[in-house]
Amino acid sequence: MAEPLFLTDLILALVLAVTGGLLGRRAGRSQAQPAPQRDGARRSPLVLYVTAAVVAARLAVAVLLLATSGWQLVTHRFLVGLPVVVLPLVWALVRRTAVAAHTTAMGAWLSFYFLYVPPGPQDLPVAAGASALVLATTIGASLLLGDRRSRGGRLARLPWLSGAAAMVTATALGGLFLVSGSATTDWGGGPERAGHSVHAMSHGHGPGAPAMRSVDALTGPRDGTPDARFTLTAAHGTVRLSSGRTVDALTFNGTSPGPELRVSKGKLVEVTLVNKNVTEGVTLHWHGVDVPNAEDGVPGVTQNAVGPGGRHVYRFVPDRTGTYWYHTHRDAERSVERGLFGALIVEDGQQGVQHNVFTHLWPGGEDQIGAFGTTDSAERRAVPAGRQVVLRLINSSKEPHRILLGGTLFRVTAHDGNPIGEPGELKPGTDLFLAAGGRYDVAFTMPDGVVTLRLDTSEIPNQAALAFSPDGRAEPAALEQGDLFDRLSYGEPAGQQPEGGPYDRDFDLVLDNGFGFVGSSFTYTDTINGRLTPAVPTLVVREGDRVRMRITARGIIDHPMHLHGHRIRVISRNGEAVTGSTWWTDTLNVAPGESYEIDFSADNPGVWMDHCHNFEHAESGMIMHLAYDDVTTPYHGPTH
Ligand code: C2O
Ligand code: CU
Repeated sequence: MAEPLFLTDLILALVLAVTGGLLGRRAGRSQAQPAPQRDGARRSPLVLYVTAAVVAARLAVAVLLLATSGWQLVTHRFLVGLPVVVLPLVWALVRRTAVAAHTTAMGAWLSFYFLYVPPGPQDLPVAAGASALVLATTIGASLLLGDRRSRGGRLARLPWLSGAAAMVTATALGGLFLVSGSATTDWGGGPERAGHSVHAMSHGHGPGAPAMRSVDALTGPRDGTPDARFTLTAAHGTVRLSSGRTVDALTFNGTSPGPELRVSKGKLVEVTLVNKNVTEGVTLHWHGVDVPNAEDGVPGVTQNAVGPGGRHVYRFVPDRTGTYWYHTHRDAERSVERGLFGALIVEDGQQGVQHNVFTHLWPGGEDQIGAFGTTDSAERRAVPAGRQVVLRLINSSKEPHRILLGGTLFRVTAHDGNPIGEPGELKPGTDLFLAAGGRYDVAFTMPDGVVTLRLDTSEIPNQAALAFSPDGRAEPAALEQGDLFDRLSYGEPAGQQPEGGPYDRDFDLVLDNGFGFVGSSFTYTDTINGRLTPAVPTLVVREGDRVRMRITARGIIDHPMHLHGHRIRVISRNGEAVTGSTWWTDTLNVAPGESYEIDFSADNPGVWMDHCHNFEHAESGMIMHLAYDDVTTPYHGPTH
């Protein structure tokens, strides 16, 4: 629902910018006439009415969005984006003067600007103030210049001409503003802190500030013999897909996906990362496992990337069972796609035949290749009838995937490693929508016939299919896409319930589109709170805080948001509360028009990444940090 509305509004705003221009031009011309013929907007009622109609349509869109998705979706529209044009327009409709027409033209451009470059919640007052100033200046200028008929008509056109010039400048400056981070720092009610860059934190904390500690001090157990010990060696290599295609890949121990690491809850794990020849550098991030900060594998925040010939030792004790995965966090957009990832399973006692099934998009020249691990064609596997089967689905690509399982009823027994309470039976073909970075454990009892798993990505056509049958000879069946799996109502609340409020912090995250410099090119890109990293304000918390956050997607694309080091709980989506099994997650896909309320406990001190797991978006700036007020980091440089 929201996406078509967003698109409609983008088009309407464009039309509004054009009619606004016409309105201003007519008003300028009219003012240049001798007094008797000066009738401002009256000469062009048609343009005025068209403008009014477009604005009315935009209001209707905003009301529809409000009704279907909630207030978070439309805050900026109702507080800034629409008032800037509605107020002058009403004036122009009542008093058809040239001055009112000029002001309406300016309002139309402001409104256009704010739709394409939406201000973050922390920037709303600035945006409102600046708009008021711009409109007041327009009124003043057209009053002043409109009377100078002696100088000819030229000057009278200045208001709308300068309006156009101002818009171009604002767009360019807005882009600079996005990346420069010149605006203020804390906005979540956090304690004062100099600079919002995570690297600036050690400076300027005032009296009463806590004693600072470094990320480097927040390690896992340094002594003791590990219960499980692994070495992962990153190197260039070749991956052969089931269709016979080969990928110029990056591998761990010669394979991709890398070796499965199977460990136990409460037991010490030691992993030595060796980088043989990956020039970009490598780190290991334990996606979904809340390790101590120094073991988190984020270059530029918790360590330096490991260069060719280098090594790094990670030690941690997993505190929850379930399906997790590891991947490099350096140059992740390309390096994870090319193969630097693998499964990390913390023993959870699930019985039967187990498969880790990565949904992955391999680089394939022009197009990407959709696959289950290395299976990009139809593959057959034998499973005796009556056996319990557990498929651990792990999305290692940057896109969300629809995964279909046919031929049997099945259950989703865990989500992002968290067991689901009393999971109900799902119909064959149920549309399992899996966030980039997310995991579902799917379980079923092997029937006599064939069970088929397919990857349905409408964007990336693919032949990937797995067919399970008792004799291992059956071909995969065609599947029909069923109803969407709804996590909101699936299962029953089980185990100890989280405490909820009262909350010590409240944060608002809006995921938007806006103009900005990505590298050296000026593009239309994805933003968090109207900014790109490093200008996105850091979320500051104190150890022990209960934190509530709202995450809203106001743009036209999915954003799988991943907070490191903490398990989050979803409370509601677009105002609708979770009624099924407690929705614990580490990677939450926020689709266009969705607004989630989540909470978590600040119980793992450090400086943590909070970013979009579409690595392409992260690369272009969708990264922010969650920082504890007493932790600082000595590391610098790119974090992904
Ligand atoms: Cu799985 Cu910061 O990433
Ligand atoms: Cu994104």
